[in-house]
Amino acid sequence: MEPRASEHFTPDEVQEYLAHIHYTGSVEPTIEVLAELQRCHTLSVPFENLSVFGREKIVLSKDWLIDKILRRHRGGFCYELNRMFALLLDYFGFKHELHAASVFHYKTGSPGPPSHVILSINIENEIWVSDVGFGFYTFPPLRLNDSLDNQVFHGNGSDRIRKHGNQYIFEQRIKTVVDEFGHEEGPEEQFTSEDDPQWVPRYKFNLNPKTIDDFQDMMLFHQTDARSPFTHDRLCTLAKPWGRLTLSGSKLVTSTYLADNKVRKTRKILCGEEEVVKELEEKFGIRREACLYPDGSMFCGVDWSKDRFKDSNC
Ligand SMILES: CC(C)(COP(=O)(O)OP(=O)(O)OC[C@H]1O[C@@H](n2cnc3c(N)ncnc32)[C@H](O)[C@@H]1OP(=O)(O)O)[C@@H](O)C(=O)NCCC(=O)NCCS
Repeated sequence: MEPRASEHFTPDEVQEYLAHIHYTGSVEPTIEVLAELQRCHTLSVPFENLSVFGREKIVLSKDWLIDKILRRHRGGFCYELNRMFALLLDYFGFKHELHAASVFHYKTGSPGPPSHVILSINIENEIWVSDVGFGFYTFPPLRLNDSLDNQVFHGNGSDRIRKHGNQYIFEQRIKTVVDEFGHEEGPEEQFTSEDDPQWVPRYKFNLNPKTIDDFQDMMLFHQTDARSPFTHDRLCTLAKPWGRLTLSGSKLVTSTYLADNKVRKTRKILCGEEEVVKELEEKFGIRREACLYPDGSMFCGVDWSKDRFKDSNC
């Protein structure tokens, strides 16, 4: 197998990638370009675990990722999305490294193993953190420094990276959830930053460099182990200019970010697999024939080429 470090996009592949994420800007390795690439990516490519759910073997080679993300219009989890994005940054000439982050569990607040892959980018001797493979990471990259004046306020909330000993902690300001009638349901999170109860820690990391191959064992864990949050049910989430859409199991959550640090959540329970697949197509752009389905699924083994897509343009 070709060593992954030696893989590079061709100019045609880059054009296809940029068209896919609707990026039309410059190709200079500046912070403005990085921010716009990250924004376009998070708005276009969902964070999703459908391969885990459908027992599809995940491969981190360039060709497999191009086929899955660009040709099949799928998303993926951190290994796939940040690996693809790193290849794009290479092409633009950004100096970057991969690092391992420990994600705080979304229900308990306990830090997991250092299994999440993130990127740091050195631009004119300043280090920026970028992550298109987390779920609700921010639109802008975050600059690392040792003080708290690096809080970033943007349309979808406030984010910061806090130095803690020899580690960094990525935190988000907690939002108040309101229902569709404007009634407050309470804070979005149960656990908070030890530094300030208005913030929630998402993950912690250090700047030890890693290669994508260092994550093979953790990627297997997240595909197969019952302790991983990704082996239980379908999760697919996509950033929108106004908020976020999340499919979790058979629940569709529409989060609309409001003023005063509030988020309006509306939840819809979908009835059956056909409706889930229809929402994935319509809301997330994931075509049903682009997925594998587990044994027992009504779609398992369907040959889409001979089915309703035969005479269409899909
Ligand atoms: C997935 C995510 C975007 C959902 O945020 P959201 O759109 O605001 O939606 P909510 O927080 O209301 O969650 C909606 C549902 O998604 C599910 N969910 C949330 N986070 C999840 C996670 N990390 N794994 C699995 N399911 C998750 C929950 O079941 C929740 O339903 P509940 O209200 O019954 O608990 C956000 O939780 C996230 O980014 N989590 C981090 C993902 C992660 O661990 N990334 C590392 C990648 S390797």
